[in-house]
Amino acid sequence: MTLPTQEPTPSTLTSKKVNIQTFGCQMNEYDTDKMMEVLRHENYTYTDNCKEADLILVNTCSVREKAEQKVYSLLGRLRPLKEKNPELIIGVGGCVAQQEGKSILNRAHNVDLVFGTDNLFDLPEMIEEVHRGNRIVQTERKAYKQKVRNFIPDFAFENISKPGLKAYIAITKGCNNFCSFCIVPKTRGLEVSRKPENILEEAASLIAQGTKEICLLGQNVNSYKAEGVDFVELLGHLNEIDGIQRIRFTSPHPKDFHEQLADAIRDLEHVCEHLHLPLQAGSDTVLERMKRNYTLEEYLEKVELLRSRLPHASISTDIIAGFPGETESDFEKTIEAAENIRFDQIYAFKYSPRPDTPAANYDGQLEEAVKAERLNRLLALQEKIVAQKHQKLMGKQLEVLVEGTYPRDTSSRSGRSREHHPVVILNSDANIGDLVDVRITGAKKYSLEAIAL
Ligand code: SAH
Ligand code: SF4
Ligand code: F3S
Repeated sequence: MTLPTQEPTPSTLTSKKVNIQTFGCQMNEYDTDKMMEVLRHENYTYTDNCKEADLILVNTCSVREKAEQKVYSLLGRLRPLKEKNPELIIGVGGCVAQQEGKSILNRAHNVDLVFGTDNLFDLPEMIEEVHRGNRIVQTERKAYKQKVRNFIPDFAFENISKPGLKAYIAITKGCNNFCSFCIVPKTRGLEVSRKPENILEEAASLIAQGTKEICLLGQNVNSYKAEGVDFVELLGHLNEIDGIQRIRFTSPHPKDFHEQLADAIRDLEHVCEHLHLPLQAGSDTVLERMKRNYTLEEYLEKVELLRSRLPHASISTDIIAGFPGETESDFEKTIEAAENIRFDQIYAFKYSPRPDTPAANYDGQLEEAVKAERLNRLLALQEKIVAQKHQKLMGKQLEVLVEGTYPRDTSSRSGRSREHHPVVILNSDANIGDLVDVRITGAKKYSLEAIAL
């Protein structure tokens, strides 16, 4: 890991502009913020406008085929910029970069630099190499054997340029689960946990800089363990930080969701009453072929574990429609599960074969039309459930963290409740960052309306 020099070197004295395009999950958004911090120390400032950038970085996602295609079409759209300005440096990072490495340089001739998910803190040296006229691929993994490693250097969270009201903190990276459909263990590597004191320092630093809500990140966040501290204990320590208002985390894996964690969500004042618990499928045959390590019944027990303690907690999930070999009756079990559990939100996806994952070679790959029809059926059901759930929330009192002015009506404010419901507070002059108690008075398709109490 490279620490940036405190004093700018002569080559960095003039300010340069960087634009970063981010695809994928929260982990990538977090990595983008860290890239920005590394580059800020190299005298780069951020620009939204890629036409005026000296450096464009594309932080990529390869979880589904569509995400990957988007990257290549963006690289194609950047070609004219490079033709106009040959000094422009274009770099590709993130999961597609880790997976494809050198072949990106072969496929996209305007790319100067490809860097993997473990290499973002080496950006200054890589950029220097590009200035020397080389095209670079750096996707080397850091030592796997170290299961505990502080993979975020202190400078990336101390005195950051734009502390957000809400901030992510990666507590683990990588995944040891190897679900049969998933590319993530390949792109992010095996699971590594950060030392608890290092995480607490990042959290305290963000809170001191004005952040109100932190969201802990990990591909399998609740399997966190370092120096004898497990996920529940870590939540307990974070809950004690002076000034912290809200704590969220994503994504917990059902197999590691247990009573102690359900108790912690109930008992720790700042931990929000929302759980994102990916189900993926409702049929045990499919779950087994996905290598998810739980049955539907076990998953339902986890839901019950939370709801018995916190009946009003919200639960969201991820579902894959059209996994190889999924029969109509398998998929009906997913529909039935969604009807019974009544999730607050479902992120549903058509199965997408990923390179070098076992499921990509399974028999029974389904037609796009079958996958699409199943996906739409699930989404239509979920729309009805959400509308019913919104009606049940009428008149209820919730606490909203104000995140901004509502764009369509500047006399209103928008934010999220502790349960993660998007809420518009009508006729409100609350400030960004305020916690406002509201009463729910109405509902739109994707949000609730409320008045401040
Ligand atoms: N670690 C999280 C998931 C991370 S990937 C978990 O285990 O739940 C985010 C979501 O993308 C997954 O939950 C899954 O629903 C979806 N996904 C991953 N690979 C996919 C694939 N090959 N096709 C379709 N959806 C996929
Ligand atoms: Fe992928 Fe499974 Fe790991 Fe989630 S738990 S990141 S779905 S391998
Ligand atoms: Fe995509 Fe990588 Fe995240 S594949 S979902 S950016 S871990």
